[in-house]
Amino acid sequence: MCGIVGYIGNKQATEVLMNGLSKLEYRGYDSAGVAIINDEELNIRKYKGRLSVLSDNLSQNKIVGNIGIGHTRWATHGAPSDVNSHPHTNCQNDIAVIHNGIVENYMKIKKWLDEVSDVKYKSETDTEVIAHLIDYFYDGDLVEAVYKAVDKMEGAYAIGVVSKREPDKIIAVRKDSPLIVGIGESENFLASDIPALLKYTRDVYLIENDEFVILTKDNIKIYNEFKQEVNRDIFKVTWNEESAEKEGYEHFMIKEIYEQPKGTRETLDRRLDDDGDIYLDGIKLTKEDLDGINKVYIVACGTAYHAGLVGRTIIEKYAKVAVEVDIASEFRYRNPIIDDKTLFIAVSQSGETLDTLAALREAKKHGARVLSLVNVVGSSVARESDDVFYTWAGPEIAVASTKAFTTQLMAFNMIALHIGLTKGTLTKEEYKNLIEKLKELPDKIKQILDQYEDIQEIADSQFNNEKVFFMGRGVDVNIAKEGSLKLKEISYINSFAIAAGELKHGTIALIEEGTFVVALATQDRLYEKMLSNIKEVKARGANVLALAKENNREISKIADKVIYIPETLDELTPILSVVPLQLLSYYIAVARGCDVDKPRNLAKSVTVE
Ligand code: AGP
Repeated sequence: MCGIVGYIGNKQATEVLMNGLSKLEYRGYDSAGVAIINDEELNIRKYKGRLSVLSDNLSQNKIVGNIGIGHTRWATHGAPSDVNSHPHTNCQNDIAVIHNGIVENYMKIKKWLDEVSDVKYKSETDTEVIAHLIDYFYDGDLVEAVYKAVDKMEGAYAIGVVSKREPDKIIAVRKDSPLIVGIGESENFLASDIPALLKYTRDVYLIENDEFVILTKDNIKIYNEFKQEVNRDIFKVTWNEESAEKEGYEHFMIKEIYEQPKGTRETLDRRLDDDGDIYLDGIKLTKEDLDGINKVYIVACGTAYHAGLVGRTIIEKYAKVAVEVDIASEFRYRNPIIDDKTLFIAVSQSGETLDTLAALREAKKHGARVLSLVNVVGSSVARESDDVFYTWAGPEIAVASTKAFTTQLMAFNMIALHIGLTKGTLTKEEYKNLIEKLKELPDKIKQILDQYEDIQEIADSQFNNEKVFFMGRGVDVNIAKEGSLKLKEISYINSFAIAAGELKHGTIALIEEGTFVVALATQDRLYEKMLSNIKEVKARGANVLALAKENNREISKIADKVIYIPETLDELTPILSVVPLQLLSYYIAVARGCDVDKPRNLAKSVTVE
């Protein structure tokens, strides 16, 4: 949930660090700082506030130096402030540390340090103890001191360390939080995430858990926790830098909403073989494996969880296997039944959500087979799974997840068809027909995007309405939840999502004159019931926006407004019906003047529990 960068080479470190941090602000942005070494000094600059505060200071008071580390923060321990910003230093200010994650036992370490040394703490953070630990263990060998320090630490961390005692190296360690090394010519790089490096190199090493890295200008060494050197293949990044920029859109979020036709098409097309059959290269589940599965869990957070709810409907329909869906942060604590007959499906855009990673590890510990749907190649969830389905949505920068969601839904459809055909619960003809239906979806998303002006007009009429309900039946309930989350997280409107059948069990008491109700009515077999629910809320003064299939003109006589989605199978409508809700929340947030790409209190990747 923070961004870390490091540089050692011939360039001015300030330029490289600040460029890298600007590409990582989505990981957290309540404060930022750098530590840069030149011959004499270890220079620290760090400030509360957005990256611009730091860059303004650095442009007025330059720091010369070719080695340094930088950090952009999303606070977990200690409120955002200058002193709580990273990098943190030891008492002599000659060791600097940046950290992404949480040192869960930092209070215990503080207590121990108080007994064995006279450390004076400057900040309220957990991170600062790392600098003091390294200082305590330093006995002429910085690498050894770092090994000893992390040996005392529990929790999740990716750390970067520099010291003017040994000014020719950067040391980094990874445990659970992401860490990437960039390979250059007489220069090397460190980062939490690939976009931070793209301007300088496409050749990277993906660092694994419990690995140490020692970067010098001309050398990169990777060691495991037993201090054995590790050989790692170079990962060649194929993204172009522009794809991580906005390409002319006002916000990353609207750019990513408009990338959904391409994203869902790539997710599907790139996995169709010459016969038009689905080929899941990252999934090695055989018929025997599948016949041995008697329980499936889908586990995720936030939007990915909503994708899982839709995934359950699809897998149960096509693969005829019972599925449970759990919120990752709850999964471990409800004593789930897990054994070697369990298939655990983790869904995560970032692949670094620690709640999801922790649930995955719990499932693995009990013998489950782990399949993950992930967007970030080489991320922790992917690397710890037995089978991986990369959604290939491209970098998703906006905190509010959009294209990752629709590609996750496409992925679930493909996995369900694959399992159904493999297990024989789908005939080849049904399988082929369903693939044709999936192929139509990207263009149907485009048709919905072409209605953006109607949606923007509705948003402009409702953006001040603080009473907003989303409701639906069947698979529409899950999209109602996703639409509500989108609106909440970027417009800060406390909206509500319900199964429409639940209205009469209490929540209809909240409906009053002017309440804005978004009613999803796309399910043919539940349409009449939804119509009754719309009439119920209308009778109490609600202003109803209905979502319906394009041939249903009757509903326009009852709802105040209707957004139509193109005709498709009921179970495939979520990939379409979510798009108007993404646009609606986007335009409402813009009308309310909210920071759409970086909503308050949120970060793109939540790497703490
Ligand atoms: C979605 O718009 C939110 N940003 C958030 O709920 C997100 O979906 C959740 O944190 C899970 O992230 P992940 O997919 O990267 O694991």
